[in-house]
Amino acid sequence: MQKAIGVLTSGGDAPGMNAAVRAVTRAAIRKGYRVIGIQRGYNGLLNGECEELSCRDVSDIIQRGGTILYTARCLEFKEEPYIMKAAEKCKEMNMDGLVVIGGDGSFRGAADLSRLGGIKCIGIPGTIDNDIQCTEYTIGYDTAMNTALEMIDKIRDTSQSHDRCSVVEVMGRHAGWIAVNVATASGAIACLTPEVPVDIEKVAQKINEAHADHKEHFIVVVAEGVEDSEGITKKLQELTGIETRLTVLGHVQRGGMPTVRDRVAASQMGCHAVELISRGISDRVVGMKDNKIIDVDIQEALAMQKPFDEELYRMCDELTF
Ligand code: ADP
Ligand code: F6P
Repeated sequence: MQKAIGVLTSGGDAPGMNAAVRAVTRAAIRKGYRVIGIQRGYNGLLNGECEELSCRDVSDIIQRGGTILYTARCLEFKEEPYIMKAAEKCKEMNMDGLVVIGGDGSFRGAADLSRLGGIKCIGIPGTIDNDIQCTEYTIGYDTAMNTALEMIDKIRDTSQSHDRCSVVEVMGRHAGWIAVNVATASGAIACLTPEVPVDIEKVAQKINEAHADHKEHFIVVVAEGVEDSEGITKKLQELTGIETRLTVLGHVQRGGMPTVRDRVAASQMGCHAVELISRGISDRVVGMKDNKIIDVDIQEALAMQKPFDEELYRMCDELTF
């Protein structure tokens, strides 16, 4: 049987995952592989939801958000018997390697499948949170930031009309990457992220000083990882006397057409993953460093720390008063 490359999306979906699936499929077909699309993450390997993908099956998806392969969280995959069952399934399909598009959790699964089951696995970072240590960029991050920014620009209109303070909660899981970037790009008066200690009194003081200087409406961006947007909203109203409203942007940030940056990065990463498998390489996570595609050992990738962009955070703060 002709050798195959498997591809799956796992964990939270992210705009640009489809562009990565397309790139993996087409790059692999060009190299003479069959491509197996596995549905609903690792669940698809356990349930046999696996279908061959042709070049045409991935037509018209580069511009679509979500993932045509569906995605899921598969709790059994943390247990050895299930990993062994998945490895058997891969072997039955004559899979030479598996490309896993997802986050850290998905890469742990990939590392286990390789170590215990002997399947060559390559990870591609796909998450809006940009919280994967070994790469400066993750697929979906740019689209999510642009969506959040578009929403904040709309909120700003109503905030301005009512002389209000608008607190906007953005996603990011435990990281403040989306928050610090959209706060900078929207000119928010303050940005609260899990990486920097939260000081509500200081934010209120900043708002009060700007208010005294005739600034009438305010945007405060809060990363979801700070965990108390409602409390923060109430406290700010109490300390400033300005009518303050909370908007939680939520899953709107996960959908929509991927931006140029996400489509290009996804295409580059997909091709690189196939190139690695075709050279017999396993246990790598594809990433981006200084705008170049790189790959990093999967265990090292999982153990790395990613420093927060404190310089951007400070600049954002300094530009608003
Ligand atoms: P992400 O990949 O976005 O970090 P999750 O943490 O939800 O998302 O992980 C996605 C899936 O990866 C899980 O549902 C599970 O199938 C698998 N996974 C997560 N953690 C592990 C682990 N420690 N060992 C094996 N598989 C894991
Ligand atoms: O990892 C992407 C993400 O959207 C995070 O920003 C958020 O914390 C989480 O997933 C939400 O997960 P769910 O879709 O399960 O609510």
